[in-house]
Amino acid sequence: MSETPWVLVTGGARRLGRELCLAFAQSGWHVLCHYWQSGAQALETQAAVLALGKKCVLIRQDLASADAAEVLFDACLKETGALPKCVVNNASVFEADDALTASAEHLLAHLQTNTVTPLLLGNHLARQLRERPAAAGAHCVIHVLDQKVHNLNADYFSYTVSKLALERGVALQAQALAPLVRVCGLSPGLIYPSGPQTQENFVQASQVNLLRRRIVPADVARAAVFVAENGSMTGCTLQVDNGQHLVALDRDVMFSVSGKGA
Ligand SMILES: NC(=O)c1ccc[n+]([C@@H]2O[C@H](COP(=O)([O-])OP(=O)(O)OC[C@H]3O[C@@H](n4cnc5c(N)ncnc54)[C@H](OP(=O)(O)O)[C@@H]3O)[C@@H](O)[C@H]2O)c1
Repeated sequence: MSETPWVLVTGGARRLGRELCLAFAQSGWHVLCHYWQSGAQALETQAAVLALGKKCVLIRQDLASADAAEVLFDACLKETGALPKCVVNNASVFEADDALTASAEHLLAHLQTNTVTPLLLGNHLARQLRERPAAAGAHCVIHVLDQKVHNLNADYFSYTVSKLALERGVALQAQALAPLVRVCGLSPGLIYPSGPQTQENFVQASQVNLLRRRIVPADVARAAVFVAENGSMTGCTLQVDNGQHLVALDRDVMFSVSGKGA
């Protein structure tokens, strides 16, 4: 009988991270739920996973430091004794700026958490697998991207640069880590209000896509489970955004509808 696999979800306490934890648990996975500031929500997510009959280990860590990936990976191994079969890089910084205001500090902060740590988590998984041979295609890393990388506008400059780099990293890392680790991207569209966005603005903006309705967060999470369980996919990105990437806008969608965006 094969062992129950573990998934590591970064930023797993709330919003899409919580949906990811629940979707994997519903599909039979144990969950390593990483969080940073959202301790209370992490406990709620843990309780929800346990109620589904799966284990859920909470790991608190800042992902903004240079050694974050290594420390987090070691903590996962220590907690479970098993390698995660899937790592979902969901945690992300999303702070407003534009090209004229983006400082080196702002750019580097977005790149560290949104690009460097996710890529290094994938590399660590592959390094571990060199020493513990496993079936080719069994392990994977999923980088959560954004429909924006397929449908550019210049708002949220540092965030967008960090996600563009990660999107380019999907194919590169898939080549580099094959056949040890599969690497895929997952691009949601607008799913939750973010930053200064008002609820009124979100309700309107979340319908600016081909299907003219809000994207169902659980659908995005289920797509991650599909990638994790499909051993034939690597180097590609799934877009789960109601077709938002096909609706070109000059500005971020929150600035393109009435109601206060920022
Ligand atoms: N929201 C959307 O509409 C949307 C649209 C397109 C793409 N996406 C992408 O989908 C993913 C999830 O979106 P979301 O809105 O649910 O994310 P979010 O709420 O903006 O952030 C997810 C988590 O990232 C963690 N995080 C941020 N900085 C961290 C740090 N320095 N160290 C450790 N953890 C850190 C936070 O954990 P704690 O709360 O525990 O601190 C936070 O809860 C992201 O990758 C995002 O870019 C989202």
